Amino acid sequence: MKKIVIGNWKLNLDHLEAIQLLQKLNYTIEENKEEKIDIVVSPSHTSLRSIQTIIDTDKLNIKLSAQDVSQFNEGAYTGEVSSQQLSKLNVKYCIVGHSERRTEFVESDETINKKIHNLIDKDITPVICFGETLEQRNSNKYLEHITSQINSAVKGLRKDKVDNLVFAYEPIWAIGTGEVASIIDAVEVISMVKENVSEKAFYNNEKIRFIYGGSVTPDNSEEILNSEIIDGALVGGASLNVDKFVTIINSINL
Ligand code: PGA
Repeated sequence: MKKIVIGNWKLNLDHLEAIQLLQKLNYTIEENKEEKIDIVVSPSHTSLRSIQTIIDTDKLNIKLSAQDVSQFNEGAYTGEVSSQQLSKLNVKYCIVGHSERRTEFVESDETINKKIHNLIDKDITPVICFGETLEQRNSNKYLEHITSQINSAVKGLRKDKVDNLVFAYEPIWAIGTGEVASIIDAVEVISMVKENVSEKAFYNNEKIRFIYGGSVTPDNSEEILNSEIIDGALVGGASLNVDKFVTIINSINL
């Protein structure tokens, strides 16, 4: 399985800064690395067009992701951006169900499921985030909670329509905190989700990847990214620093 490393730039960088970061990333990555690892950047919506233009003009192999999409396709939904609009910008991936959106923007499982359907309809691969709070983990309810998140996310998806999917395990207590789930915790959850998804007959598709996110840095990336169970990483803070991001990418043994 080809590993994937996604840089989630969150609400950082204007489009000029985003261009600079992309260009620095492009000349820092070792040659041909992108043929062996999918390298993805996820800037704010305002930078998508600029980044897409550079990727297309300079024929970069770095792939473009959005950080969010609307649950609606068109109409009177002020401030929203549709999957159709993203696909016209050659966006290949879109993060969906990130805990910051679930919490700060009160996104329900139902909304997230609609977004996933909209993305798949436009051939954009959803990066479906899921994970538990510290309370859920401590009360031993986390596997239950995660199963329910996954079941809601994939509701109504038809196997024949699902080509690429990425599931990102992001324990909320590990995001931006410097706390990282132990490899044992991450492997336990990801193995359980793989089994659950395969029961739904999605995971006989070779193109479904299960990745980890939450305080991934050069200090812990080697263990995470070389696990047989974990197909990649969703990197927040460390992706804003090219040297750190490239060190994370390079920690994958090829
Ligand atoms: P972090 O963020 O690497 O800064 O913890 C990860 C994420 O939220 O995707």
